[in-house]
Amino acid sequence: MTENVCTQCGNKHIVINRKYNGQKLCSHCFKESIEKQVLKTIKKQKLITKNDKVLVGLSGGKDSVALLKILNILKEKNIIELEAVTIDEGIGGYREEGIRIAKQTAEKLGVKHHIVSFKDKYNFTIDDIMEYQKTVDKPQHACTYCGVFRRQIFNQVAREIKATKLATGHNLDDETQSIMMNYLEGNINNMVRIGYKTESSDERFTQKIKPLRKIPEKEIGLYVVESGFEVHFDGCPYAHESFRMEIGDFIRDATLKHPTIMYSTLNGFEKIRPAIKEQYLKQQTGKPNGTCKKCGEPASQDICKACKFLEEIQQQLGV
Ligand code: FES
Ligand code: ZN
Repeated sequence: MTENVCTQCGNKHIVINRKYNGQKLCSHCFKESIEKQVLKTIKKQKLITKNDKVLVGLSGGKDSVALLKILNILKEKNIIELEAVTIDEGIGGYREEGIRIAKQTAEKLGVKHHIVSFKDKYNFTIDDIMEYQKTVDKPQHACTYCGVFRRQIFNQVAREIKATKLATGHNLDDETQSIMMNYLEGNINNMVRIGYKTESSDERFTQKIKPLRKIPEKEIGLYVVESGFEVHFDGCPYAHESFRMEIGDFIRDATLKHPTIMYSTLNGFEKIRPAIKEQYLKQQTGKPNGTCKKCGEPASQDICKACKFLEEIQQQLGV
């Protein structure tokens, strides 16, 4: 029988037993291994270069808290500038706690923090939209609106503060789910966009990066707890039984018997991605990058999706 001690330093108090590579680690060595892995990914994938100004989307959940904490290492070494933004969608009984934790995290790390609310910006909340949706025949899901407006705000704040990178906390579980979902649905368009960073030729879009892409969700939670940070573990009340959740459950079950499966899914995808991309790009018509006639944001059509939704909702709610 192998001994239950840290495989790095021999400490008897281990916090993790990594089935996928046989490592058992104590708290100190575990945290160090996570930070090393993320910084290695950043270097290898060229996600951040010296003097970048990085904006982190900070929800207060474990992924974004871990991300801010790790990127703060680069800020403290004077390699990058770092700021964070939290979006208040107006989801009563849920978002308040996330904002409190986001504020507290940014303060603890000494990171400049912005909070933007749907209410201030658009004069309605997600709760207002969902109240209205109850009265229609075919209600839309909250995420449809939430995602579009959040994206608009992230891009705007990034441009306002002249951020050169917009970092999000997507983890290994999120990424393998996206790969599987798009593969099973035959969504090749979406599939080629799954990567460490966005590759847009449009300079108005701040490049999005995913430094936590190789870290399993469970380990991110453990990292945050072991680092003594508080996190918002509750889920959004509007999250529903989605295809993503089904796939997530399936992958988690498979991981129990096949501990390396998320890594092999991601690595296999990385190998075929260039080929799919090349083939896919050949079929593209090469549309020029357009501008929304209403808000001036980058858009592939005359009016961007956010402005279309905005008009629709303002009419419905009379705001
Ligand atoms: Fe989609 Fe909250 S609105 S999960
Ligand atoms: Zn627009």
